[in-house]
Amino acid sequence: MLAKFFTFIVIILFALTTSAQVSIIPEPVSVVTPKGEYKAGKQINISVTAGAQSVADLLKERLTNSGINCSVAVGQEKASISLLINKTADKTIGKEGYQLTVGASGVTISANDNAGLFYGVQTLLQLFPADVEKKNGLKDASIALPFAEITDYPRFGWRGLMFDVSRHFFTKQEVKDFIDQMVKYKYNILHWHLTDDEGWRIEIKSLPKLTSVGAWNVKKEGYFGTFSAPAPDEPRNYGGFYTQEDIKEVVAYAKERFVNILPEVDVPGHSLAAITAYPELSCSGGKDNHGVCSGESIKDWSTHTALVDDNLCPANENVYVFLDKVFTELAQLFPFEYIHTGGDETFKTYWEKSDAVKALMAKEGLKNMEEVQSYFSKRVEKIVESKGKKFMGWDEILEGGLAPNAVVMSWRGMKGGIEAAKQNHEVVMSPTDFVYLDYVQGNKIMEPRIYASLRMKKTYQFEPVPEGVDPKFIKGGQGNIWTEQMYTIRHLQYMIWPRAFAVAEAVWSPKAKRDWKTFIPRVEEHFKRFDAAQVKYAPSMYEPDVATAINSKGELVVTLTPEIDGLNIHYCFDNTFPDNFYPVYSAPVTAPKDAVMMRIVSYKNGKQVGRIITMPIDELKKMAKK
Ligand code: ACM
Repeated sequence: MLAKFFTFIVIILFALTTSAQVSIIPEPVSVVTPKGEYKAGKQINISVTAGAQSVADLLKERLTNSGINCSVAVGQEKASISLLINKTADKTIGKEGYQLTVGASGVTISANDNAGLFYGVQTLLQLFPADVEKKNGLKDASIALPFAEITDYPRFGWRGLMFDVSRHFFTKQEVKDFIDQMVKYKYNILHWHLTDDEGWRIEIKSLPKLTSVGAWNVKKEGYFGTFSAPAPDEPRNYGGFYTQEDIKEVVAYAKERFVNILPEVDVPGHSLAAITAYPELSCSGGKDNHGVCSGESIKDWSTHTALVDDNLCPANENVYVFLDKVFTELAQLFPFEYIHTGGDETFKTYWEKSDAVKALMAKEGLKNMEEVQSYFSKRVEKIVESKGKKFMGWDEILEGGLAPNAVVMSWRGMKGGIEAAKQNHEVVMSPTDFVYLDYVQGNKIMEPRIYASLRMKKTYQFEPVPEGVDPKFIKGGQGNIWTEQMYTIRHLQYMIWPRAFAVAEAVWSPKAKRDWKTFIPRVEEHFKRFDAAQVKYAPSMYEPDVATAINSKGELVVTLTPEIDGLNIHYCFDNTFPDNFYPVYSAPVTAPKDAVMMRIVSYKNGKQVGRIITMPIDELKKMAKK
């Protein structure tokens, strides 16, 4: 009896002190949710400290878009939401942190700086119903917000996403939308990959052919890298570029949202667009060059051989004059203190054949091609520094010796970053095996073709500071979105989300607060927000990983491994469409002898969550052979 009474008391206390779960991504440093909610009603008044109105205006814009009546005033006493800049700085939260309280008398967000207020606002918006993301989604709704006490600040100052606009061009508006989406998850760096073999995307006034010639190729669809070479007379009208006015507009838009833009001009490799515009910049003078790449094969990736010369020539002084012009204009357009100069995947085929490079090696005492690239990097570093900027490159710039002040972005795993940090250089971690957001999020057999798969579960394990490395050299991390196989903004969204939630959490949340089990329900809540906002995402986490083997009887055996808990995976081999009345997968299954197709579908709590996936038996057998 006594035990029952105590259980009763515990239940009552629990009911009094706990409240609805909040689902914040990235997970804050500390969240307490007392029971109760603040009833804001149908009109929201925002009060803001003078000097921070721009943050209040952005909040107003978001709420107004969702149909809420909203006003902003400076220093009001009675407001539904108060945005306050601390008179005395709170050292714990730093420049980007905030305190957020939702209580009986309303919402207060306090911060040391406008950036912190802005991040507090992003968290606050996640406390609103999902329809806050929908145009007029909360029109005439009476708003109630759960009580909350949140303290929050980022783990890293560099929280980036790289956006490749060269392989496929994305408009200025699409870039702004991308920024809107990234800041919701507290990213603060947009690494803008502006040049590559498929297009030069930024107007350089002193070098007009970079965009009149270099921004245009032939539209192809299918499997990038295997396209037929364009005919000489095919119109080159696919692509585009940003004028300098466009760039200024995007930079200002980003700055208002506390995003720094890191421009990348990728040299000396990946430069076919520039070389098509100015063939004299390559060692071969462009003799095998058939134009800006349209997705045809220009490199043999298995042997690291260039089939077309896409490298700037390190032995040509005019190349450095060219780069000086480019970086002069770039430095004026982008206020961020870093410029990324690429350096990756420079296949040296044409350098090896070049007499000018041989002469350079003799003159400078360079022993191999890596030292030639290092010579080039050091010269580029000097140019970048002469514009008042810091020089940054992919981890290949370590080969042959790092330039004196280079900042390294480690992409071929973490080892380049570890090596650079050991040499006391700043590092940003963006390893392929954890944060390459161009890899499909599900099994390759289920997804649009690209060279690799990377499950969100693996991304969630991304830890930017490796064992044994001084954390002071690790500026943070970023996810990279290469767009070879992304033709539209819809597919780009599909590739990024929800996996970029995992990256956001790795670079913002305290390491100890990261937990896959609590992450997934939060992701599911955010799917509702994405549905409301009509932003696409991949449902791949509901679709299992597939492994196959051929057993001793020559039969195909299929193993399905779910990425998350709580799924029922139904399957069939009879070439029909499975639903929750079909057999549930519980152990590896053997395909019937004459089956041609396996189909699967996932359910959770009785509801279909995954797509119906069709897997031809022939493909499954091929997987087994590999
Ligand atoms: C890279 O992914 N080539 C940096």
